[in-house]
Amino acid sequence: MDSEGTTCLYINEAIAMSIAFAPYIQVSSPPHTALAIIMSLISTALVLLVPLGLYLYMWSCTHSRSNDPAAAVPPTKWPILGMLPGLVANIYNFHEYSYALLAGSGLNFNGDGPPGAGMRFFITCDPANIQHIFTTNYSNFPKGAEFAAIFDVMAGGFFTIDGELWRLRRMKFVGVIRSPRFADRVAAHCHDKVKNHLLPLLARMASTSTSFDMQEVMARLMFDITAMTVFSVDPGFLSLDMPLIDASLAMDTVMEVGFLRHTMPASLWKTLRWLNIGPERRLHEANRVLRRFVVDTMERRKTNGGQDEDEEVVGDILSLYINDPDYADDDLLCGTLISFMLAGRDTIGTTLPWIFYSLAQNPNVVSIIRNELSPIASHKVARGMGATVIFEPEETKSLVYLRATLYETLRLYPPAHMERKTVVTDDTMPSGHEVYAGDAIYISLYSMGRMESLWGKDCLDFNPNRWLLEDGNKIKYVPSNKFLAFNSGPRMCPGKEIAVVQMKTIIAAVVWNFDLELVESQSIQPKLSCLLQMKNGLMMKLKKREA
Ligand code: HEM
Repeated sequence: MDSEGTTCLYINEAIAMSIAFAPYIQVSSPPHTALAIIMSLISTALVLLVPLGLYLYMWSCTHSRSNDPAAAVPPTKWPILGMLPGLVANIYNFHEYSYALLAGSGLNFNGDGPPGAGMRFFITCDPANIQHIFTTNYSNFPKGAEFAAIFDVMAGGFFTIDGELWRLRRMKFVGVIRSPRFADRVAAHCHDKVKNHLLPLLARMASTSTSFDMQEVMARLMFDITAMTVFSVDPGFLSLDMPLIDASLAMDTVMEVGFLRHTMPASLWKTLRWLNIGPERRLHEANRVLRRFVVDTMERRKTNGGQDEDEEVVGDILSLYINDPDYADDDLLCGTLISFMLAGRDTIGTTLPWIFYSLAQNPNVVSIIRNELSPIASHKVARGMGATVIFEPEETKSLVYLRATLYETLRLYPPAHMERKTVVTDDTMPSGHEVYAGDAIYISLYSMGRMESLWGKDCLDFNPNRWLLEDGNKIKYVPSNKFLAFNSGPRMCPGKEIAVVQMKTIIAAVVWNFDLELVESQSIQPKLSCLLQMKNGLMMKLKKREA
């Protein structure tokens, strides 16, 4: 790195250091009198707002800087503050930075923040350690109380709980999600949405040569499909007039502020929450919007007649909970339903734009997918089923190259790019690293998918063939501790196959009916969020293919 770059890094670390000190200064003078309270509030405001301003300034700077793996150097270990300033200073480059750190340190890295700030951590992408954390010694590595606090919007929902309570709640939904009836239902919603909304919208964009944000279109599509699955109500966000999507934007906010919370000492973000300022104010508003969405949508479902029918017959996710006395608490019901919306919308909605981005850059992959689809499409056209072809879930089930393309995208762009666990009792990892009770463990899925030692010399290439057995007719088995996109061990994603069916339906329809083109001169990079969404969206142009 040049000397200007190094100076910048130190300045950034110094700014970050002042931020990290804030919570400690603030707790030093407890207020006793009215004057002391006022003085304390003023000093709190100064101590918090100045560093916060700087912190947010640094975040905003990140929006004008590009990701540069070469910029990733190990953070300085400052006296008292440990690596916190260095980590904050490099946050703009978070994904590439963690990747470079892990690549340079043999897949594992120990770090810490100031003593007492609860910021001692271990970051890994080593499959042997992942096996240990997610499966072999699973009960020693729950998500933990800090994780639950960070995602308080989903309070009590399955994503944020551990232990026996999680096991019981998982048992309740997993049987339903894995049932063929539920899978058919979701596949039918997806098929209808693609046929009646997505393809007409894309055809309009193609006929007018209009460029559009594919990420936004996919977010709308997945919001509608997931809401149908959860509530049996279609919010109608994917339509030609593109209505305001405040609930969808609120879900993005939850993930962005959740990421910010992960990077701060808990005492800092909790104070900001108490003061209701900055990102915490945005989160508070997002929480309000999401809760209103849940209440309004449940009301619409009732009006549509859903709740008067036998819940067994309705068969949506809400049916599972609506008459369950354990979920009589509104907050718990809301937290649970929001968690399901996130599970379905955020994961697929985040993956699809990366698929279309990768396909637009790899025309050879598009050709192979079309070859795979061709016999099915010809059959449909011969039966006079119209020029625009849509594929049924049953028809795409056996398409291995399409599945390989999905896996390859999830390897390089896992929507949940980072997992967090907490250590219950001191332990030694298979790699020999020691972790101590209370430490946070971060597992970088983003880095894991790019490691040469795991995926070979072509690890950064988009190559679906790596997922195929030699005869090309079967998917190669890759253990989940190496391909972690759907998680591993007892908390493995129960929606994996449902997700694959939906993604296949959507990709097949788009790729068969349209040629994809990226709009030039756009900067594609991940935003700072718990989801690997694109910071600036994905501008594309489509051309209708001739039958
Ligand atoms: C591209 C698609 C998807 C990906 C990559 C994905 C990935 C994941 C991951 C990484 C987790 C673990 C999260 C954690 O515990 O921190 C998870 C859990 C979960 N997923 Fe998925 N998922 C996808 C689609 C879906 C869909 C469509 C559904 C619903 C039908 C779903 C339902 C769930 C549920 C209920 C859990 C919680 C499991 C538990 O905590 O026991 N997922 N998923």
